[in-house]
Formats: sequence, structure tokens, C-alpha cells
Amino acid sequence: MGDDAGVYLFEGKATVHTVDVITPVLNDPYLWGSIASANALSDVYAMGGKPLLALAIVGFNNCDLPPEVLKETLRGAVDKLKEAEAILIGGHTVDDKEPKFGLAVMGVCEGRILTQKGSKVGDLIALTKPIGTGALIKGLKEGKLTQEDIKEAVENMTALNERASKVALGVEANACTDVTGFGLLGHLWNICSKSNVGARIYFEKVPHYLISLELIKEGVYPKGAKENLSFLKGKVKSGVGDVELTLLADPVTSGGLLFTFPKEKEGEVLELSRKLDQEVWIIGEIIEGSFIEVK
Ligand code: CO
Ligand code: CO
Ligand code: CO
Repeated sequence: MGDDAGVYLFEGKATVHTVDVITPVLNDPYLWGSIASANALSDVYAMGGKPLLALAIVGFNNCDLPPEVLKETLRGAVDKLKEAEAILIGGHTVDDKEPKFGLAVMGVCEGRILTQKGSKVGDLIALTKPIGTGALIKGLKEGKLTQEDIKEAVENMTALNERASKVALGVEANACTDVTGFGLLGHLWNICSKSNVGARIYFEKVPHYLISLELIKEGVYPKGAKENLSFLKGKVKSGVGDVELTLLADPVTSGGLLFTFPKEKEGEVLELSRKLDQEVWIIGEIIEGSFIEVK
């Protein structure tokens, strides 16, 4: 329990099951569908699995929005599933004033099952996508940014974590999860508490969108960032400013994988990520203790 997806052993095979639903992040329904899809598939990749099939979960009101919006959202989701070599086999719609879209996904783990438990003192911590999407989406909704301004983030949010998962499996990561609503700090804390270890991260090594830091300075970020920080109260030893700390706790949509691996595999991580054309940032290390130190 408490991992990114539920695992069920069926006839000798480990099947993984997960569900994720989000509210619109952009005005473009096709992109929203692809992001929601990549976001839902991510929990399967976080466990080292391969997605097989999905069911759509839709909250939609036909009176408020034209049916083409839903059609485009689904097209975005299905195209993303195709890229993942998974299929949409059905779904369900409920009437909802605030649109919602997500997928229940079933996948299979053919190799090792990656979990959040197993990080060892001395492990290095890797992250595969920049953070800061919460502030960017908030800025977009408040009209402070255009979609063009956050092009790079949109590309990253629609990107599957498939290759990131291959890197984590390839270097025998000791623990793995994906970065979403609890922010980088919240998800790192999940790994720490399940593995009974602490962590040290270096702010300047954490990849982030520069505009997101500017927005947070102006107070533009989702309330989830502060909620995440209050949950982490007493668990974080911060050596950075409030703005930086808020960014580290900013809720992420369709974020990257966060995994820890033995230090001696550092070269292999870099080599494999280059080979698979997957960006990987090493942001810190696992230490003894029951806290996260931010330098
Ligand atoms: Co997850
Ligand atoms: Co999830
Ligand atoms: Co139904």
C-alpha cells in the first residue's frame, strides 16, 4: 500500500493498477488529454511496469462545453496511449460543472517491481523532469502567461516516463516514484519515510522552469504548495529562502520519475540516459536520519 500503483499477482504475473484524474491545465483540449494520459500512465512507469490498457473517467457538462472539446480531449489521450502501446477499452462519463479527465490504467511488470521502499544511505537521487508546473499553470490561469511562454513545460508534461523508467530499471534503482501533487519534497519524503532514511538535496541542482520561480516571488502559485509544506513541517531542514522552498513543494502535473540508485552506478545512469535520450539530473544523496536537508 501507498506505492504509486496497486500490484496484483495473477497467474505468476505482476499486474499493476492505478487511476489518476485531473482538472484542465490548459485551454487546448487535445493537449489536456495527452497530459492527463501521460500523468495517469506515469504511476505504472514509476513501478517499472508497462501499461497495457486503460479506461477513461470523464467529468463533463454538454451544456457548458461543445462536444468537440470532449472529442479532442479523448483524441489526445488515445494518441498518448498509442505512443505507450496501450489501448483504451472503455470508460465512463458523469455530468460535472468543472471538467475532469483521467484514466484507470492496468499494466504489467515483467522485470523488477520498483517501489518507494529500499533507498540506502549513500544512494544518489535522480530526477527526470524539471519542476514548477503548478506555478506555471496558476500563472496561465491568471492570464500572466500565454501557452507559448510555457511551451517547454507543456512538452515535458506530455512526455511519457517510459524511458525514465528504463533508466531506473537499467541501473537497478533502489526506490522509485513519480513527482506529482505532493511536489518534489513530498514525494521525496515518501521515499525517505518508507525506506527509513533521510535525504540531502541541492537547490541549484534541481531542474526547474525559471519563470516558475519569478511567479512564486510574486505570490502566484497553487495553494497546494503551502499545504505540502505544512504537511512537511519539522521534516525539512531548509538552508534556502521561502521562495525556493515553495518551489520545491509546488504541486507538479505529470512530473518526472524520482529514483535513488547506488553511487557506483552514476556513470551507468549518465550513459544509459544519453543512449535513451532521456534527461536525468542528479539532485542529491540519501543520508541517515528522518528529515530532508535542503542546501
Ligand atoms: Co505517483
Ligand atoms: Co497517482
Ligand atoms: Co458506465
